[in-house]
Amino acid sequence: MATPVLRSFLFAPGNHARRVEKALTLGADAVILDLEDAVATAEKAATRKLAVEALARPRTGKAYIRVNAIGTEWCLGDLMEIVKPGLDGIVLPKVESAADLRTIDWLIANLERERGLPTGGIDLMPIIETAAGFSRLDRIFGARSLKDYGGPWRVKRMAFGAADFTNDVGMTWSPGEEELTSLRVNLIVASRAAGIEPPIDTVWVRMQDVAGLKTSVERSKHLGFQGRMCIHPDQVKVVNETFTPSTEEETRARKIVEAFKAAEAAGQAAIQVEGSMVDYPVFHRAERVLATLAAIRAKGG
Ligand code: GLV
Ligand code: MG
Repeated sequence: MATPVLRSFLFAPGNHARRVEKALTLGADAVILDLEDAVATAEKAATRKLAVEALARPRTGKAYIRVNAIGTEWCLGDLMEIVKPGLDGIVLPKVESAADLRTIDWLIANLERERGLPTGGIDLMPIIETAAGFSRLDRIFGARSLKDYGGPWRVKRMAFGAADFTNDVGMTWSPGEEELTSLRVNLIVASRAAGIEPPIDTVWVRMQDVAGLKTSVERSKHLGFQGRMCIHPDQVKVVNETFTPSTEEETRARKIVEAFKAAEAAGQAAIQVEGSMVDYPVFHRAERVLATLAAIRAKGG
């Protein structure tokens, strides 16, 4: 599997032409044109066409569209209209079962076939953001529902939606986000156990609190997330920078890889680098840091 480098997913309401146009060219690794919670009920149907039109605009990253949840009256109509050339992925909110994913995958596969698009070409990124979704993580992403699935599995990674989750369970979303740590770890572990990419962490809603954003994004990286969803263009730079290995991380990773390779060639697998023990897992972790950096550089930063 190629090293995944989707650091930033920037939301733009699908019916807000100026914000959509801007979002597409701001250096986000992906833009999510929203048909769900950023769009008023009365506007939902009309927004589909605008989102599809935006897929043809110049852009610097991938283009995803967030449809309405499977249990709503809009989901089917959303999918019927948006599976079109230029669409890289679909974000599916409030996923609560393996059947949700199978059903939507089946529909997308049929639309791809009918419309002459490559089968399995469109990603499907579920957002886990309800108590029901969290309590069934293993069953949604577990071996039987995912690894034994016959076709090309389009679910490459999942995302966390803290706004809906905290609302669903009546939790207070505090500035320090301590209450979210165990949920975040659950997503990291479930993703790894399912053999999919690391997940994408939730949006940061305190727009004025830039220091808080930075701390929160550093924690996401520390826990093992691949990236963050963003709700404001200014958040993209912080997120991209934080998820790009720093010069210090690069230097240290290079030292570890070089020293370990030399030691291994001499028949040793446990050495010290700058006072810390390095063995196979530490070596592989350092290799991953370098692979992430190489993948980011290969796509132009
Ligand atoms: C995103 O959809 C969220 O609910 O946080
Ligand atoms: Mg949500």
